Amino acid sequence: MKKFNDYRKKTDAKEIKDVGYQFVDILANYLDQIQNIDSKVVNYMSPEDAFKIYDEPMPLEGMDLKKLLKEVVDPLLSHAQNLASPSYMGHQVCHPLVLSSFAKGLSSAINQGLAIQEMSPLGTMIEKRVIRWICDAVGYSEQGDGTIVSGGTEANLTGIMVARSVKAGHDIWKEGNHQSLVGFCSARSHYSIERAFGILGLGTQNLIKIRETSDFKMDVTDLKRAIAETIEQNQKPFVVIATAGCTPVGSFDDLETIALICKKYDLWLHVDGAHGGSFVFSDKLKHLLKGIHQADSIALDPHKMMFMPLNLGTILLKNQKHFDETFKVNAPYIFHKTAANLGCLNIGERTIQCSRGFEAFKLWICLKHYGIQYFAEMMNHCVDMTKYLYDQLDESPDFETLNVPESNILCFRLIPESLRLSLPEVVDEFNFNLRNTFNRTGKAWITTTVLGGRRMLRTTIINPRTTKKHIDQMIIDLRETGEQIVN
Ligand SMILES: Cc1ncc(COP(=O)(O)O)c(C=O)c1O
Repeated sequence: MKKFNDYRKKTDAKEIKDVGYQFVDILANYLDQIQNIDSKVVNYMSPEDAFKIYDEPMPLEGMDLKKLLKEVVDPLLSHAQNLASPSYMGHQVCHPLVLSSFAKGLSSAINQGLAIQEMSPLGTMIEKRVIRWICDAVGYSEQGDGTIVSGGTEANLTGIMVARSVKAGHDIWKEGNHQSLVGFCSARSHYSIERAFGILGLGTQNLIKIRETSDFKMDVTDLKRAIAETIEQNQKPFVVIATAGCTPVGSFDDLETIALICKKYDLWLHVDGAHGGSFVFSDKLKHLLKGIHQADSIALDPHKMMFMPLNLGTILLKNQKHFDETFKVNAPYIFHKTAANLGCLNIGERTIQCSRGFEAFKLWICLKHYGIQYFAEMMNHCVDMTKYLYDQLDESPDFETLNVPESNILCFRLIPESLRLSLPEVVDEFNFNLRNTFNRTGKAWITTTVLGGRRMLRTTIINPRTTKKHIDQMIIDLRETGEQIVN
């Protein structure tokens, strides 16, 4: 059997084009078809059946590529989670710009290693440029810098790790912890914050969850109380983690007030803007991030609201020298001095990863082609559609919402007439079943969470092709599935 682009032979450009065009055909046909109104967001398959498709021994000889594309790629696409569907309103994973996917393919083919500049002479400059643009947008001066990371989780881990180094008061990298260091985050912060405390050996019990206000923001009065109490107990507070666009409801903490509190107590301010940080690019939405320039570190994920394929997160520091103080390594076989006037060009000196890909390329090429205004418009649209959804639900007696959405995430629940007088647990159970049954219809796809002790349905409108028509239809379909469950 002929092997594609066999290493034992010279590369044949025609053969690469032929196979490449097949991949492009598969993608183009898939995207074309998935946006038809009758296409399903997910064509449900049980995990047992999905497992069976791939349950086979390691291939020894390999199989014909044409056959492989037909037999393997077909089921993969027909049962994929179709983020390209305008009726996908689920977790915060976007339908990426196709240009970014093409760029990802090309950058992976040239496989530039972005740890050190000598392995990616221009790629390094592209990553530095993209990071500079983002630093400018959040209001960081030339002292600021950042790196691309795998996502919000790694960005939060890195930010808290740098905070620990700077605020510990001794060489924690070398000596380890001398005493408990205490951090504060909002009750609704992403689980990666608590996980970072675990990973870093800070102890999850040393992360204090601050109460939330009725609109799901960090209660700053409770924050002040918790900090004062920690100091009274002779413990050392070191970091406050605020959230800009929290995962369950998309609310934004009051960054200006939290920054003042951090200043007063000499605490590091880390902003988890994995979801909402990208709103700095929108004139309409950036007011939500007022004060973000005062943060010592920021997590901001282009793979969420900037429509990039996974994985592309960023961690930004107001003062880049803290990267170098935190990541101390002695590796003469890899890190050599680079042009001093351009700052740190061996980005791997400032990251947890050593081998790191050229993820910057996909964002850079899209920013160059579309311009930032386009991204802002797409974000605005997603937020506008969420507000439209809220208005529709607010006017409907059978739906209940708990807050006016600030961004593109909204929680709500359906309480059909027949359940109006039921126990809250019954309504919870109904909404949980509703979400699962509804998603299996494939007509749209939503998520669920618990808010104020009650089971809620949750939507993230993250596909700029979602319109009022898709939202209206989703509400109709949801009611219909609800009726089938209660009757
Ligand atoms: C507020 C927030 N922070 C952090 C994360 C984690 O980001 P990632 O999944 O890119 O690691 C998420 C993911 O949804 C998030 O919503």
